[in-house]
Amino acid sequence: MISQKKIASSMICLLLFLLLPIAFSEPTRILDGRSARAPTVQQIRNRHGTREVIVDNGIIRVSFSSPQGLITGIKYKGIDNVLNPHLRARGYWDVTWQGENIRQGLDRIEGTKFRIITQNEEQVEISFSRRWNGGSRHIPLNVDKRYIIRKNTSGIYTYGIFERLPEWPEVEMGLIRIAFKVNPDRFHYMVVADNRQREMPTDDDRDIHRGHAKALAYKEAVQLTHPHNHLFENQVDDKYQYSCEIKDNKVHGWISTKSHVGFWLISPSDEYRSGGPIKQELTSHVGPTTLTTFISEHYVGKDMETNYRAGEAWKKVLGPVFIYLNSDSTGNNPRKSLWEDAKRQTKEEVEAWPYDFVASSDFPSRQERGIVTGRLLVNDRFLTPARSAYVGLAPPGQAGSWQTNTKGYQFWTKTNETGYFTIDNVRPGAYNLYGWVPGFIGDFRYQNRVNVAAGSKISLHSVVFEPPRNGPTLWEIGVPDRTAREYYVPEPYKNTLNPLYLNHTDRFRQYGLWERYTELYPNHDLVYTIGVSNYTQDWFYAHVTRKIDDSTYEPTTWQIKFHLPYVNWRGSYTLQLALASASRANLQVRFNNENSRPFFSTGNIGRDNAIARHGIHGAYRLYSINVPGRLLRTGTNTIYLRQAKAMGPFEGLMYDYIRLEGPSRD
Ligand SMILES: *[C@@H]1O[C@H](CO)[C@@H](O)[C@H](O)[C@H]1NC(C)=O
Ligand SMILES: *[C@@H]1O[C@H](CO)[C@@H](O)[C@H](O)[C@H]1NC(C)=O
Ligand SMILES: *[C@@H]1O[C@H](CO)[C@@H](O)[C@H](O)[C@H]1NC(C)=O
Ligand SMILES: *[C@@H]1O[C@H](CO)[C@@H](O)[C@H](O)[C@H]1NC(C)=O
Repeated sequence: MISQKKIASSMICLLLFLLLPIAFSEPTRILDGRSARAPTVQQIRNRHGTREVIVDNGIIRVSFSSPQGLITGIKYKGIDNVLNPHLRARGYWDVTWQGENIRQGLDRIEGTKFRIITQNEEQVEISFSRRWNGGSRHIPLNVDKRYIIRKNTSGIYTYGIFERLPEWPEVEMGLIRIAFKVNPDRFHYMVVADNRQREMPTDDDRDIHRGHAKALAYKEAVQLTHPHNHLFENQVDDKYQYSCEIKDNKVHGWISTKSHVGFWLISPSDEYRSGGPIKQELTSHVGPTTLTTFISEHYVGKDMETNYRAGEAWKKVLGPVFIYLNSDSTGNNPRKSLWEDAKRQTKEEVEAWPYDFVASSDFPSRQERGIVTGRLLVNDRFLTPARSAYVGLAPPGQAGSWQTNTKGYQFWTKTNETGYFTIDNVRPGAYNLYGWVPGFIGDFRYQNRVNVAAGSKISLHSVVFEPPRNGPTLWEIGVPDRTAREYYVPEPYKNTLNPLYLNHTDRFRQYGLWERYTELYPNHDLVYTIGVSNYTQDWFYAHVTRKIDDSTYEPTTWQIKFHLPYVNWRGSYTLQLALASASRANLQVRFNNENSRPFFSTGNIGRDNAIARHGIHGAYRLYSINVPGRLLRTGTNTIYLRQAKAMGPFEGLMYDYIRLEGPSRD
């Protein structure tokens, strides 16, 4: 017995000895291997008798309705469908539009023709296209939806070629996107960023009619009163809490903790997006849904140029984006390993841009693109390199016009510490060079057009941005960074909070913060005294209306008090007023007399909805207001900022930065 025991235990020791080194020598990130067989395409009729196209590369098996070209199934790692099998639309492109006789159209762009574009050892590219036939049922557009499935690749590339002919009727296109509804039985954990990820409620938890949730101020936001997971009770769910600036919107998606599988939407480039690098877009949200918008009015509003006039031609390639799947059957922390792997894959996709395997000649290769280099200097009293400045090429227009541009391509980068920049992979075309510099007000536009030819390398040497300034700074409020981040952001309400944003850098993403204004200033509005007040505590992040009761709101007037030891009566002072957001607002400015006619008024501006949608900014606006010295006094002065529109809780503004400049010395 004893000897047998001894033998057994020594065998265990030997086994352990043999196994341990293997266990320890394994890399920390273990992701499941790939299979390298050529992808196949099959056209079949499924059991309902409808046509399908199936592409299979041994790793994923993707089914498309044909010739519509909706993605109906993704089989991966033994999961029959990673997408939601209970919904008809699970993986689709769509457009919202208005045209002749169509007030609010939603077009899911179902193709009418299927073609195989490429099929070889390495990859399959297929097309589902539709030409406009003149009817009013569909948006007047020719659309070619492309899907690429490559060998040894765990995902699907997709891009769309959208084209409008000049003779077609006028149309308004508000939104173009691609959306996926993933399987709700498996995917519960959502990731938007390192510090923005959580277990999510379900679609059913949001159901107001079944008494699971309560409606809030607008339909996207609900208070979860009876969620399936009691931990979510009294939390808020609102997809806009997961919005992201385009420059940071490279990868987001869902993890199935049970199946150890991740589903990711990777955007390797921003060239095909609208509105520039800091425009915000939706990402993933309850559904479980994951999407990417190519064109939208989100956080800018109707100012986006989404109208196509009769006579106007347009063609744009949207994408490719990459739908990436990963799995980690061995790891014991799939949330971490799958997210880390998704970020690694994103880096790989960004480095591979522009992809060299895209068949369409409308997508120029790296050799067919150009490079623009230069150095940006900023001259605000003295000349300095513009460090960490944003510079970009966008269609020709006024300074700042890129903010509302949807029709062309944009190429953005940031300058280095000494102001140098390189914008590469630029599609051939005519552009303006635009930019802005954190810490300075205003928009830069280089005076000359930049014409990029295929394969060209253009060096602009030094370009100088002169930010608006008419005189020395007398005082300032905030920092010029195009956001209201630095101001006072109140605590959320206990019964409508999202715990994700407690103690978080993005505290402004909580629901209902705007309502705190009326509590803080029930009778008298905000008064800010230069030299005494501190904008981090005393300047509310949004200039909102005051709630009187559920249906009555009133305009509010903020005051800035400041002391002038001396006034040059003949001099011209300047109030630099930079706004980070405006929603159906009208800002009136008065000097030292609250009851006078406004000295300056913005008129009705903005539909960016950034207050309701928890963006800390929308579109940027700068007003340089000339203030004659005769309006000012020696001693105490007051500037009255009145936001005069007050239909409801969401008319209002966010300030970026305010500065009073003395008269010019020269
Ligand atoms: C397949 O892809 C994986 C991951 O990128 C790579 O490590 C492997 O070498 C590839 N296999 C083949 C046969 O290309
Ligand atoms: C900035 O870029 C220029 C041009 O590429 C380079 O010479 C310089 O070393 C860079 N400076 C820093 C601080 O990275
Ligand atoms: C907030 O975050 C900081 C830094 O991560 C941490 O030290 C602190 O304990 C957190 N506070 C709460 C209340 O979670
Ligand atoms: C304003 O308040 C912040 C936060 O409390 C503090 O860090 C900063 O030093 C204050 N600024 C001034 C000028 O007192």
